[in-house]
Amino acid sequence: MKKAIVIGASSGIGRALALDLAKDGYSVGLVARRSDLLAELKEEIGAAAVVRVVDVRQAGENLGLIKDLAGELGGLDLVILNAGVGHINNDLDWEKEKAAIDVNVSGFTALAGAAYKYFEGHGHGHIVAISSVVALRGIGASPAYSASKAFISNYLQGLRQKGAKAKLDITITDIKPGFVDTDMAKGRLHSGWQARSLPHVRLCRRLSEKNLMRMY
Ligand SMILES: NC(=O)c1ccc[n+]([C@@H]2O[C@H](COP(=O)([O-])OP(=O)(O)OC[C@H]3O[C@@H](n4cnc5c(N)ncnc54)[C@H](OP(=O)(O)O)[C@@H]3O)[C@@H](O)[C@H]2O)c1
Repeated sequence: MKKAIVIGASSGIGRALALDLAKDGYSVGLVARRSDLLAELKEEIGAAAVVRVVDVRQAGENLGLIKDLAGELGGLDLVILNAGVGHINNDLDWEKEKAAIDVNVSGFTALAGAAYKYFEGHGHGHIVAISSVVALRGIGASPAYSASKAFISNYLQGLRQKGAKAKLDITITDIKPGFVDTDMAKGRLHSGWQARSLPHVRLCRRLSEKNLMRMY
């Protein structure tokens, strides 16, 4: 049985991916802050799910999370780094900018590094992160959010190069969705980039599993 961890599993894309993985026979580690939503999800998935209530902003305290959860799951094949926050911030309010940096940059970096080191030690693995189409271009209404997503994409390129240089069997996948109909999108589904369900994310996962999206 394959094992996966989904960081940011309590709602939206992460929740859908966790359910999809469980349906495909994975044991899944579910990580987020909202314990009630995680408990509901665990009930839906059953014994194959393990829950950890974690705030990724406590980045330095989470360095052991991946290893601990892998121990509980009995191994690890896939880590999905999906936790993220984003605000429309036309006034450049510092707290909103800081939130994007704390979760999408610091929280992400601590767990991406921990996942890479785990897979480095075990000889193989797959790291998937959900950045965004805004990683490709700064957005005036959300400068820190779009910059944080560019950070994620760039960091993944670095990990990919590092793994290739060391000839490690570690696959790194960057998923850049457009608008997806979740709490985060808050009804702003008005642009050309949108999805009312998650088939494209699932397709990305299936393609990446077959290594069709493996790039160096
Ligand atoms: N929706 C879109 O249009 C869209 C487009 C492109 C990319 N994305 C990206 O897709 C990812 C998922 O977003 P979504 O649309 O599915 O929104 P969502 O439903 O709000 O999901 C966000 C997830 O991140 C978790 N999270 C946020 N802050 C956290 C923290 N401090 N510690 C631990 N977990 C935290 C949330 O869990 P808790 O609140 O329970 O902690 C939740 O599970 C994000 O990285 C987002 O940037 C979304």
